[in-house]
Amino acid sequence: MILGSCSSDREASTQPAATTPTSSTSATTSVPSPARTARLGAAVTAKRLESDPAYAALVAERFDSVTPENAMKWSVARPTATTWDWTGADAAVDFAQRKGLQVRGHTLVWGQPSGNGIPAWLDAMTDPGEFTAAVLDGITTQVGRYRGRVQRWDVVNEPLNPLDGDVHRNVFVERMGPDYIERTLKAARAADPNAELWINENGTEYLPAKAEGLVELVRGLKAQGVPLDGVGLQTHLFVDGPLRAGGISDVVGRLRALGVEVAVTEADVPGGSPNRDAAAQEAMWRQVAQECVSSGCVELTVWGVSDADTWLDDPGLRQTVPFLAAFPVPTRPLLFDENLKPKPAFQAVEDVLAPGG
Ligand code: XIL
Repeated sequence: MILGSCSSDREASTQPAATTPTSSTSATTSVPSPARTARLGAAVTAKRLESDPAYAALVAERFDSVTPENAMKWSVARPTATTWDWTGADAAVDFAQRKGLQVRGHTLVWGQPSGNGIPAWLDAMTDPGEFTAAVLDGITTQVGRYRGRVQRWDVVNEPLNPLDGDVHRNVFVERMGPDYIERTLKAARAADPNAELWINENGTEYLPAKAEGLVELVRGLKAQGVPLDGVGLQTHLFVDGPLRAGGISDVVGRLRALGVEVAVTEADVPGGSPNRDAAAQEAMWRQVAQECVSSGCVELTVWGVSDADTWLDDPGLRQTVPFLAAFPVPTRPLLFDENLKPKPAFQAVEDVLAPGG
């Protein structure tokens, strides 16, 4: 569904047509969501939703969907193979349910060896049988816990190599085999037959070979009848300079032709570089929204609510991502400023997402 997804889904999201809620709540937000042609989502910090009423109100009033930025990753939610910390994830899901927002669960299977990708305890599990059981049991437990309350999951994050279109030979491939994507998607389907199942990838807007690899991966999965409903394009635009026209819409169109939904799932547009002043940054936001909407994306999620929240200013990240050196801190890459005031880019995006925009 594309048209009218937002105001109607907001009402519906406590009783989604395609899902069976495990508990009944009512939406308490009194502010109607503007009608939009695609969902507007934001990555959120569970702690801030609880501790900062202005932040929570902004999320409830301005967005249709939330993605917990870190709280559902196993590096955070699953301290060991057999123990879980649901604090942050529960807070985000409960908040969304109270406010009538949808939830994109993020993420179950992520082979990135550094940062908050694969947790150390799982990396250390070298026995293939033990590893596979831990992965599949974890999916069953987590997806099952939020059955009916998380509308869609980024089941597999970043299945391809960072800089080309080949499947990343990560620990999941090494220990479960190349069919780990199929097996993890099937485990998620069994745990919540009504949740949409997505894979999520980065860099396709800059790297044509990677876009090609993603299309081929999805083509293969669909041809085998693997349960896959959607493909997320992260869209972290931190290569200094313009984005080629069609950088987003081309791959959206090719993926949709394979019978999956497509969304921009983690957009951010840092500014302040030699090649990206404030006007260029705003124009780029407009381009992201326009390409997304015109090619039929169902969702545009931005990676953080305000400029105070962005991961791009993190000193640790900046040491490992050389591209970011072009953008001085603060990079101010989001739609609301440090004081939670809407930036011109927010209005630009809203104008594009408005019906007929
Ligand atoms: C990032 C978070 O924003 C940071 O807070 C954390 O330190 C590292 O992970 N691709 C993804 C996201 O799929 O999960 C990442 O989130 C950003 C890149």
